[in-house]
Amino acid sequence: KTINVILSGGVGSRLWPLSRKSRPKQYLPLFDGKSLFELAVERNKKICDKICVVGGIDNYMLSRNILKKLKVKPYSEIVEALPRNTAAAIAFAAFEADSDDILVVTPSDHLINNEQEYQKALNKAIAKAKQNFIVTFGLKPKSAETGFGYIEFVDHDVISFREKPNKEQAASYLKSGNFLWNSGCFCFKAGVYLEELSKYEPEVYETSRRAFFKSNGIFLNEILSQKIPSISVDYAVMERTTKVKVIPSFFEWSDMGSFMAIYDTIPAEDARKSTTNLSLNTKKLVEFVGVDNLILVETKDAILVLNKHNAQDVKKVYERLEIEN
Ligand code: GDD
Ligand code: MG
Repeated sequence: KTINVILSGGVGSRLWPLSRKSRPKQYLPLFDGKSLFELAVERNKKICDKICVVGGIDNYMLSRNILKKLKVKPYSEIVEALPRNTAAAIAFAAFEADSDDILVVTPSDHLINNEQEYQKALNKAIAKAKQNFIVTFGLKPKSAETGFGYIEFVDHDVISFREKPNKEQAASYLKSGNFLWNSGCFCFKAGVYLEELSKYEPEVYETSRRAFFKSNGIFLNEILSQKIPSISVDYAVMERTTKVKVIPSFFEWSDMGSFMAIYDTIPAEDARKSTTNLSLNTKKLVEFVGVDNLILVETKDAILVLNKHNAQDVKKVYERLEIEN
């Protein structure tokens, strides 16, 4: 069977103050009253037989409520005691599955348009995963973004996978034309993933296996979870495995990671945009005079004024506030 593993561990700290620990960005109803999590479930249940949600304890009820609303009975839910990053989160889903099950791993926080292209790419990936490959989805890069993984490719073969390069490297990848952005979705057999993980990160494999099999129902053991090294699947497996393939893909995709990404999805004629400025979520009249590139965000208890080119730095505010609290 094919199982869609939805990763829902992150908070989306770069979207503070819209996203909070109690309401991570993937649950904000920003898209015609729907959240990114809801859109992800709707999109993937058309292709996969089952759904498995892996997320933190704070997100558990939020995910549940959406699944209930969509009348989707999850194949399994895995509730992490604390976030140990994506290599481990995917391992839990793989331990839960049969080793020949095909896992379609997707984030919960991406906006995808052009679903037909998405379905096409997924079906191609599933076919490749059945041949024991680890499959990535490559999208044509639009800028020298440093927050993504890059896939150097020829046809479906991957020459190298480079997670989060620095600015100069990213610029050279963009220029070369032989690199695609890694979409953050993956497809492989559960058993193939676990084999590669145990080969390249035996400690992550062992510690997550122990935490998983000592869990209390769907709730993972907290003390054993603390022992799991925090590393993303990109560094742990994708950069190293020789089994990786890429499906060059053509769906429209946005990692709604920062206010800059949101800015880009809002059309110019939207009332919230004025020249190069944007206001979000405010019920007040906002006027921008003599300023450029500002994003203003208002919630009940906070206002953020941001130069949109510093959109990545909002994370620092979130982290500071978390420490102060
Ligand atoms: N369950 C669980 N537990 N989920 C997690 C955890 C965790 O500990 N950590 C992160 N996630 C979830 C996030 O909620 C998100 O849906 C997904 O896993 C990816 O994590 P991110 O933290 O958003 O990764 P990234 O954006 O830095 O990088 C990844 O995605 C890029 C595309 O958006 C990489 O795969 C890059 O190569 C890729 O380009
Ligand atoms: Mg992300």
